[in-house]
Amino acid sequence: MLKETKHLITWQDWSDDEIHSLLDFAVYVKNNRVYFSEHMSGRTLVMLFQKTSTRTRVSFEAGMTEMGGHAIYLDWHTTNFQLSDIDLEATYLSRNASLIMARLRKHEDLLLLKKGSLVPVINGCCNIYHPCQAFADMLTIRLDKGKIEGTTLCYIGVHNNVTNSLISITSALGVHLVLVTPIQNEYAVIKPLMEKAKAKGLLTQETNIQNAVNNCEYVYTDTWVDMEFFNDPNFQKEKQKRTEIMMPYQLNSELLKNSKAKVMHDMPIHVGYEITREVIESERSIIFNQAENRLDAQKAIMLRLVGMS
Ligand code: CP
Repeated sequence: MLKETKHLITWQDWSDDEIHSLLDFAVYVKNNRVYFSEHMSGRTLVMLFQKTSTRTRVSFEAGMTEMGGHAIYLDWHTTNFQLSDIDLEATYLSRNASLIMARLRKHEDLLLLKKGSLVPVINGCCNIYHPCQAFADMLTIRLDKGKIEGTTLCYIGVHNNVTNSLISITSALGVHLVLVTPIQNEYAVIKPLMEKAKAKGLLTQETNIQNAVNNCEYVYTDTWVDMEFFNDPNFQKEKQKRTEIMMPYQLNSELLKNSKAKVMHDMPIHVGYEITREVIESERSIIFNQAENRLDAQKAIMLRLVGMS
């Protein structure tokens, strides 16, 4: 019988044991970079982007290069994905590549891509999930603290795609996640996912931001406006409204003065909105380690999906 292709669309598709094992493997990959320098030899990753990116594009491409493979960058708008059915174009891609990583606007389009693909598909961030980011976040905490289980992580911001992937992965790894999310992107909130994490005792919703930051080991924030809307003239009124609601939730020195929490942000950062430059550049910030860890986290994901680990 043919083995079913394993994808990474969302962590809900992976068992807790699979995620624990992948995290152990990512630590190994990070500590033994040279050992993996030929593991992707002869393999190609196709990276399909419908939205902008710095980290996702660079870290996946660098990851393939460092492992002896090759990455092809495809801008959706200059391909025939915009003319044809997504699953048919995906079938074609998968006859040329060992892996496809896609950053698409809509989750349902990503599912069509997966349907057509004969090789593993990795979600490089859609409107509902950002699994690679959340995995790199867990790797960052694991490397910083030496262990992951029992960690307390507080997410302050708008409930978005990153929030969902954090809920999913923290619940799998035994991390207690506290959400301070005065605004929810309606399309993003997934009630069954939250209920499952709450039933495990690993998800709490908090309204008192000071309590939240004083009682966690790591505090995490993200943009208040999704990347595709940040400079969109049609979204400026909503951006203004969100800024007024969210400004009391900014990560700044005053908020953090009685907290020992280390600070995380998935980048890109909007300085002066969700976080101040002083906090970004402070001793407690592990933001650039977090961003760097996208590289090793995704190497581990790619190696596991092609069966090289
Ligand atoms: N965090 C993240 O995905 O960064 P990019 O949007 O720059 O890829």
